[in-house]
Amino acid sequence: MDFRHQIAAPAALSSIAADALLLVVVGEAVDASLDAKLASPLNDALAQHDWKLKAGNKLYLHRPAGVKVARVLAVAAGKGGVKEFKSAVAGGVGQIKGLGARHVAVALVGAELDEAHAEAAATAAADALYQYRDTKPSAPAASPLDKLTLVCTKAQTKAVQAGLQRGQAIAAGVTFARNLGNRPANHCTPTYLADQARKLGREHELKVEVLDRKDVEKLGMGSFLAVAQGSHEPLKFIVARYNGAAKTQAPIVLVGKGITFDTGGISIKPAAEMDEMKFDMCGAASVLGTLRAVAELKPKVNVVVIVPACENMPDGRSVKPGDVVTSMSGQTIEILNTDAEGRLILCDALTYAERFKPAAVVDVATLTGACVIALGHHNTGLFSPDDALADELIAASRASLDPAWRMPLDEEYAEGLKSNFADMGNVGPRAAGAVTAAMFLKKFTGKYRWAHLDIAGTAWKSGAAKGSTGRPVPLLTHFVLSQAR
Ligand code: BES
Ligand code: MN
Ligand code: ZN
Repeated sequence: MDFRHQIAAPAALSSIAADALLLVVVGEAVDASLDAKLASPLNDALAQHDWKLKAGNKLYLHRPAGVKVARVLAVAAGKGGVKEFKSAVAGGVGQIKGLGARHVAVALVGAELDEAHAEAAATAAADALYQYRDTKPSAPAASPLDKLTLVCTKAQTKAVQAGLQRGQAIAAGVTFARNLGNRPANHCTPTYLADQARKLGREHELKVEVLDRKDVEKLGMGSFLAVAQGSHEPLKFIVARYNGAAKTQAPIVLVGKGITFDTGGISIKPAAEMDEMKFDMCGAASVLGTLRAVAELKPKVNVVVIVPACENMPDGRSVKPGDVVTSMSGQTIEILNTDAEGRLILCDALTYAERFKPAAVVDVATLTGACVIALGHHNTGLFSPDDALADELIAASRASLDPAWRMPLDEEYAEGLKSNFADMGNVGPRAAGAVTAAMFLKKFTGKYRWAHLDIAGTAWKSGAAKGSTGRPVPLLTHFVLSQAR
């Protein structure tokens, strides 16, 4: 989609040239500054009780008298916070995309459209227009809608431009992550992920390196190898780098869980909804999507993305409950449950990250069903022993409207990971399972500032709208941008 901005006063909206005009209306009445040719049908509909100024309520007008645009859709957005504005745009574009319009102009009525609105409009429009088609040739044809113009004041021009640019880059990263997540596991294999990373590297001047089993053996990643050994799909260990600052500047390292399918292994999962375990590489997809957004925005910061990628399968060669492996850190792990495989591949990636002498490491993983029980599908779970880093990630989460909630990491929660046969077990008791998983990872992160994002509840949706969300690309992109200097 092509995003632009145009300067116009609310009083001149009836002469805007586009195929559709989306009016996002905030407040308890239609603002008096709005062009009378638009205000009068809106006020009439309010008086007739055909429309309410309640967030999300829509009113469609076709060829209102004296208005240049053929299609006008007014959407109420409550008090006009950026979050309400974003859902109004998503709802509005969702309706307009089914019409014949190719070009939609979006105007905010009753408040001034600024940088945050512009970013929100770009991401909301891209989300509303997204359609997965990679393995579904019969998917509905793409909407003709391919141009979005934001109407703003002259004073806001620069800010709106910046917001649009950021929103567009984030949207491209989110779309990239959604496509990878939605692609089924027989197509999206570790090899496919590596190829996609290489392609991203070619298109955006990134350094991409892919390690194979032999390299991983040499590095001593016994834990990662144990998970991969039950699958016929070759494992890949992907390292992609964006250099936007001096070589001497410590990088932000993003680690993404890349289990392209999680059967549970020998501790096999029940059949119901197991198909959704193709989404178990959404952490990987999100860090690659973030890298795409960052490479487009070119901030002065260095970023390293690490993706351990493999399948978790039951097989004659699979790792068995009770097996003890030696991680790259030298610590031994008793694999009590082969379904707790995410932490087993991440721990070696976290040790590998040490070589970059990172400014901070953030890992992203669909790690635990327990996180879904704790936080549902709204907030990503955020874990960090570092208050400053946690605050920076929460700030990025708020700014990007990509919610995250901080969870505890007291030492007491590590109690359950004790083993009689290794330095640690890979599972603890059921209670606080998302925290125990984070405590396990923490044992591999002593050498740098670290945070963990459990996206088990937020990376995809189930049911009729089943599909990947692309989260937390917006949060991560904002975080990386906030680290630029
Ligand atoms: N990929 C799953 C976590 C998951 C499950 C995410 C369901 C979203 C929905 C992970 O590898 C896993 O299986 N975790 C186990 C850990 C347990 C064995 C300690 C879980 O959550 O059940
Ligand atoms: Mn699992
Ligand atoms: Zn998993």
